[in-house]
Formats: sequence, C-alpha cells, structure tokens
Amino acid sequence: MNAITLLKNDHKTVEQLFKRFEKLGPRAVKSKQELVARMVRELSIHAGIEEMFFYPAIREAAADGDADELVLESLEEHHVVKWVLSELDGMNPEHERFDAKVSVLVDSVRHHVEEEEQELFPRVNKLLGRGRLDEIGEAMARAKKTVPTHPHPRSPDEPPGNLVAGAGAALVDKALDTGRKVVRQKIGSRA
Ligand SMILES: [Fe+2]
Ligand SMILES: [Fe+2]
Repeated sequence: MNAITLLKNDHKTVEQLFKRFEKLGPRAVKSKQELVARMVRELSIHAGIEEMFFYPAIREAAADGDADELVLESLEEHHVVKWVLSELDGMNPEHERFDAKVSVLVDSVRHHVEEEEQELFPRVNKLLGRGRLDEIGEAMARAKKTVPTHPHPRSPDEPPGNLVAGAGAALVDKALDTGRKVVRQKIGSRA
C-alpha cells in the first residue's frame, strides 16, 4: 500500500476516536478509559512507523530542504504528543485533569495531522515518487505488529537509536498490554 494512503487511514481512525470522545457525557468513565487506551495504542504505533520509515526516508531524500525542516518540526510535535499520551496512559478518567489533558492531546494531534496532510505529504509525493512510497508503505504495514504500543517520550525517535530501543520497548509494551488484558478479564469475570 502507498505510504501516504496508509498514514491518512491512520489519521482518520484517530479522528474517529476523538469525535467519539467529544460526544461522551462527563460521567461516561468506562468509555473515556477505553477510548483513551485506543488513542494511546493507535498514536504510539502511528508515531513509531513514521519515525522508523517515513521521516528518515524524507530526510534522506530532502537533505536540507523545506521537507527536512517539516520533518524536524514533526518530530518535535510527536515528542510533545508523546508526553501528554504518557501522562494519560493508565490515568483515572475521574481525575480532574483528565478531560483537559485529552483536549490538549486532540488539539495537538489535529494541528500535526493538518500540517502533515496539507504541507508535508504533497511535497513527499513529488520527492519520493510512487514506487518508493509503495515500498515504505509495505514496510510500515509490516512494522505495525512490532513497534511499541505505548508512548516513550524519552526514547530516541530517529534511526538507528529508535530501531534498537524500539525493539526492547515493544516487548515491554506487549507484556504490559497482556497484563492489563488479564486484569480486565479478571475484573470482568467477577462482575
Ligand atoms: Fe506524524
Ligand atoms: Fe501522521
């Protein structure tokens, strides 16, 4: 699949989660928790594949042009988003700061997505061409199963650092996901 199509699909998925969250009433604690857990997962995976394959390919092709500057800004925006995500990850939805944090997350991601879709993607289309974009798309689709599923704002976000640290982090995240699933099942079976 074309890399840009794949990334745009991810953006749509995340936007749907945001819209669903925005429609919830203040007492929908369980739905808030579930939606934020999905945002954490979707956005962590999305940021991971962009940082491993998409951004490095652009930097390589663009050297020190405009597209390179846009990627550097994107990395900083990811960094800010990951901090907010790391605070929301596992946070009690009844905490008085929860809704405000989600709202800042949503604003930051919408801003970032708009920049990618309006400014970065059109340039990348010309810069990399269809063949290369298909290759990157395939690599990203495969990597979705192995990248970290939780945010790691202190970890490296460019190759080779993220490739090395990301593999370890992904294993820890998988264990965390399994652990939480078991806990949820136990709670469910008691109810
Ligand atoms: Fe991004
Ligand atoms: Fe993106």
